[in-house]
Amino acid sequence: MPVQIIVGAQWGDEGKGKIVDHLSDSVDIVARYQGGANAGHTVVIGDKQYVLHLIPSGIFHPHVKCVIGNGVVIDPIALIDEIKQLQQMNISIQGRLFISHNAHLIMPYHKLLDTIRERTSEKIGTTGRGIGPAYIDKFMRIGIKISDLLDRDTFVAKLKRNIEEKNQIIKKIYGDPELDVEKIVSEYEEFDKQIDEYITDTALYLNSEHKNGKRILAEGAQGALLDIDHGTYPFVTSSNPTSGGACTGLGLPPTAVTSILGVVKAYTTRVGNGPFPTELKEETGDRLRKIGGEFGATTGRPRRCGWFDAVSVRYSSMVNGITHIAVTKLDVLDGFDKVKICTGYKLNGKVLKTFPTDVRSLEKIVPIYETYDGWKSSTSHIRRYPDIPENARRYLDAIETLTGTKVQIISLGARRDQTILIG
Ligand code: IMP
Ligand code: MG
Repeated sequence: MPVQIIVGAQWGDEGKGKIVDHLSDSVDIVARYQGGANAGHTVVIGDKQYVLHLIPSGIFHPHVKCVIGNGVVIDPIALIDEIKQLQQMNISIQGRLFISHNAHLIMPYHKLLDTIRERTSEKIGTTGRGIGPAYIDKFMRIGIKISDLLDRDTFVAKLKRNIEEKNQIIKKIYGDPELDVEKIVSEYEEFDKQIDEYITDTALYLNSEHKNGKRILAEGAQGALLDIDHGTYPFVTSSNPTSGGACTGLGLPPTAVTSILGVVKAYTTRVGNGPFPTELKEETGDRLRKIGGEFGATTGRPRRCGWFDAVSVRYSSMVNGITHIAVTKLDVLDGFDKVKICTGYKLNGKVLKTFPTDVRSLEKIVPIYETYDGWKSSTSHIRRYPDIPENARRYLDAIETLTGTKVQIISLGARRDQTILIG
């Protein structure tokens, strides 16, 4: 039965939340595989907007089961907050939410270390949600897992050991006040009571449901260009948003995967620091930000904006194995006289057709653009592909040709109905 992976093919914020919500109609399970509450997945239903950080974007479909996989780092405070918000909206999660016992926990010291590191070393521009420090502990093999919450003695012992060590770093290296061990212990002891019913072996659950013929959608967070291995290191997140991360982050084997949908915005945005070849620092960038409402769903930071970059999406398609793409926010370009697509990079007088992931090259490259006539008419009401203005279709064709991908979904607004499925 189908296992489809949804990946962000740029620097995150491509509109994965909306696309996952849209596709959830025809699946049984939606599973988040990496990242944590650094993500902000927005779903608009009617006149209401919901921003999810940890719970999969399939939650608004009552028949869909939602999984938070082992690859996710979970901040219990953010999770409980999100569960409460959903309950207040009368969205039932009982029997629908499954949290991996192998997922790691984000602790207050992770968030603290995330922000103080940003103060003192080269700024990545992180979301400050403790993501990097939590993954560090996971790989150091000192992390605290969800399953540790189930055994009080082990949990308290691990937590105390960790806090004592972190306090040394916090005090001696950064000169900040130490954390209160007892306060954190008592705060976190409460969490297991609140999330106990959701904890399970999600790899086992997913594999058995897969065998039972259930349709699974793996929901990525962030984007391929923020991938720890394949992104613009060090200006990346600390996980693998690329499709490979779905297998390790859920325990589903690569052989189970049937398709990989890359989500791209019709232009490009990036939050935080790091190279961004097609960034528009002048008025056009401001215009995209304003029309596109390009402010972080998690941090509220203004997003950097620029033209569509076919070179980086081609690269993203390669490392993800993208089988087709969803192009979102096409309507944001409605009023532009001309729109541009970056088709190649110039580095030291040479034309590059492939994406150099090293930051020093990326900072020096000059983008080569192709310019297209705008369509100068509103598209947000359009529901059929043939009704899309010819110039907009030409623009979409160029995206297909230049990135070597096939457009399957076009999104023309935040609402559910503002979506066109092709083929
Ligand atoms: P971290 O994931 O908080 O460690 O942040 C590392 C980098 O990834 C920063 O540039 C963040 O702005 C960026 N980032 C993290 N999560 C997201 C996201 O969901 N959308 C867009 N950028 C993100
Ligand atoms: Mg986002």
